[in-house]
Amino acid sequence: MKILVTGGAGFIGSNYLNLFVTRYSQHTFINLDKLTYAANLLNLERVSSLPNYLLEEGDIADYERVENIFQRYDPDLVVHFAAESHVDRSILGPAEFMRSNIMGTFCLLEACRKCWTNKENKLFQLVSTDEVYGSLGDKGFFTEKTAYDPSSPYSASKAAADHLARAYFRTYGLPAVITNCSNNYGPYQFPEKLIPLMILNALEGKALPVYGKGANVRDWLYVEDHCEALWTVAERGKQGETYNIGGNNEWKNIDIVHKICEILAVEVGKVPQDFEKLITFVQDRPGHDLRYAIDASKIKRELGWEPKETFESGLRKTILWYLGNQRWVESVKSGEYKNWMDANYGKRLTG
Ligand code: NAD
Ligand code: DAU
Repeated sequence: MKILVTGGAGFIGSNYLNLFVTRYSQHTFINLDKLTYAANLLNLERVSSLPNYLLEEGDIADYERVENIFQRYDPDLVVHFAAESHVDRSILGPAEFMRSNIMGTFCLLEACRKCWTNKENKLFQLVSTDEVYGSLGDKGFFTEKTAYDPSSPYSASKAAADHLARAYFRTYGLPAVITNCSNNYGPYQFPEKLIPLMILNALEGKALPVYGKGANVRDWLYVEDHCEALWTVAERGKQGETYNIGGNNEWKNIDIVHKICEILAVEVGKVPQDFEKLITFVQDRPGHDLRYAIDASKIKRELGWEPKETFESGLRKTILWYLGNQRWVESVKSGEYKNWMDANYGKRLTG
């Protein structure tokens, strides 16, 4: 099988490729990635020289480029990760989110529609987010039937992509499946997201910026569990369906930050207070969703998937990964990273 993976040099895409390129040597994996700030080719060092892995640098919102890839490879499965993925960036600059997340998904769907003359044994798999459902109060869970109610430009762009995929299934019979997953954590995550940002700032003795009161709740899933769920859905999921993926693992942000401080202290021979004193409550994210919680009973019941990693061991593994991969850490702290930190946190930290 030929598998076109979009955004395979980002966080989840590279974990997916690292897991499956070696496990499934009978399949060829083509990684189509624009190599934005969020991509890192160091993520793919383990697979880059393997014969069943190929990199194509390119923009999914460039239709000609996408169609050319389809003509050259005729992929059987498209696993669509590529997106602008950070909510705070979508607030400061939404345009790129509309282009990559909406137009990019549209171009891929169009290429599938035009190039897949025989739709037998083909599948377009859209990797989406629980953020399309908006915010929960203190109780309840998102199910696959929850109405879409996105809050940020990011989640609105992902919701639009989901609607497009569903419309292509209903209108053209395009074989498509959608998964909506909760917050991932693990190796190779760009340190603009909560967990790696807190780890790296703590190690450098910098402020740990917690939005609002730190009371917002997220459901956390180890990235490899998400990748296994995606493989399961590609193998056994039903076309036209949506599957929620989650960790059944809800945490308030402030509690996660304390947990990171505790684990770090053990690993580097300090006491938690050495890091906890850096916690700084800062201006909240506009439109900040209070709580996400996933009901993942459908994927468990119908496809037999459930998460394997516990949060305790997954978080420790993640922290050890950042401690042990200094070269990677240095590679992401380019000028662009510093500019982002100034743009997003400069004002928040000073008042
Ligand atoms: P990421 O930001 O780490 O990586 C995104 C990748 O997409 C990068 O390699 C980037 O270069 C590439 N890309 C961006 N725009 C592109 C374009 N126009 N053309 C080609 N490539 C482009 O993102 P991630 O955290 O790995 O998320 C991957 C997907 O999973 C996204 O669609 C995201 O919405 C979804 N998702 C993420 C999470 C999470 O917690 N990170 C949870 C649920 C769903
Ligand atoms: O739920 C799935 C989504 O999870 C994915 O679709 C997104 O691509 C991914 O980025 C993630 O979105 P979040 O906005 O939940 O993740 P983030 O790591 O940015 O923030 C997690 C929580 O931590 C959120 O409530 C905001 C808060 N936060 C975040 C940062 C970066 C802080 O308090 N301080 C910070 O500096």
